[in-house]
Amino acid sequence: MQNSGWILVTGGAGYIGAHTCVALLEAGHQVLVFDSLVNGSTEALARASALGGGEIAFVQGDVRDRAALDALFARYPVSAVLHLAGVKAVGESVRQPLHYYEVNVSGSLSLLQAMDAAGVHTLVFSSSATVYGAPVRLPIDEQAALGPSNPYGRSKLMVEDQLRDLCAAQPHWRVAILRYFNPVGAHPSGQLGEDPHGTPDNLMPFVSQVAVGRRPELAVFGNDYPTPDGTGVRDYLHVCDLAAGHVAALKALPAQGGLLTVNLGTGRGHSVLDVVRAFEAASGQTVPLRFAPRRPGDIAACWADPSRAEQLLGWRAECDLDAMCRDVWRWQRGNPQGYR
Ligand code: UFG
Repeated sequence: MQNSGWILVTGGAGYIGAHTCVALLEAGHQVLVFDSLVNGSTEALARASALGGGEIAFVQGDVRDRAALDALFARYPVSAVLHLAGVKAVGESVRQPLHYYEVNVSGSLSLLQAMDAAGVHTLVFSSSATVYGAPVRLPIDEQAALGPSNPYGRSKLMVEDQLRDLCAAQPHWRVAILRYFNPVGAHPSGQLGEDPHGTPDNLMPFVSQVAVGRRPELAVFGNDYPTPDGTGVRDYLHVCDLAAGHVAALKALPAQGGLLTVNLGTGRGHSVLDVVRAFEAASGQTVPLRFAPRRPGDIAACWADPSRAEQLLGWRAECDLDAMCRDVWRWQRGNPQGYR
């Protein structure tokens, strides 16, 4: 299938972006990436292009740069935008809130204005389960109260609010808000994966760096939560399933119209110790760990009700935790220093 017009992926050279580019190419789309390369890599794009069996056009730039966006839309006939560019570290957002609002909120606003000026009104937006804050009940469905507890989450919620206001005022917009749970995993080829700079904030990249010998041990943040083994429970989602969710949203938007908001998760929760055990089994390595105090701002447990994504997008996560660990290990073992 060859669709008309370019699909613009902002942040396409990042972890989720590169996997999404592969899925878009496989679905027959023409892919154009706009990325500042602050947290992405051209090597990831080259590999995504090879894996997806197609070319990826690339323009380096920042979504806050309206002139650069205008030039991009003038040059390429874009039919839809997947907006993944942004900053995403919770702890950093607490220390540098203005940076988070500038990149995530002002960046999105500049992109929406450039899209409007160019007559492009179809958007898939990368949001996060962090917009829910501490859940009142589990699983979390899209009707749950919104109340993020850090500037990163609030920046995502602010963009969601912009999009709700925009779709209410201008019904010709077609917008999908995707609330990701915990994306992990890597492309099954071992060619693409998460390549965090510095010490990883998130569990899975930390575990895999311990397994490969880059770090001595994992600190497990809290073993006194009201969960079956006392450690935090999350809904881990394979990045290839997540990538497929973007393609499904793009496909569903024309018929659905207006605004649609869906959780992307598996609907299953796994504890930190579940992840460690699964990783040890997948890698054949032991992952030394010690229990440490709770990390400030963490919640005990969080998992999705993903049924709306299945109803509206026909999308469902396929991969289990073992597959996620297996693929992360293949990536980590083959690329111990990431793309460098
Ligand atoms: N954890 C550890 N040790 C570590 C890192 C994490 O024990 O070194 C624990 C955490 O305490 C938590 C679990 O592993 O219980 C998962 O932590 P992550 O940092 O991997 O993920 P979070 O659920 O905290 O946050 C992630 C993203 C957010 C996003 C959220 C959505 O980082 O951006 O998922 O659910 F908003």
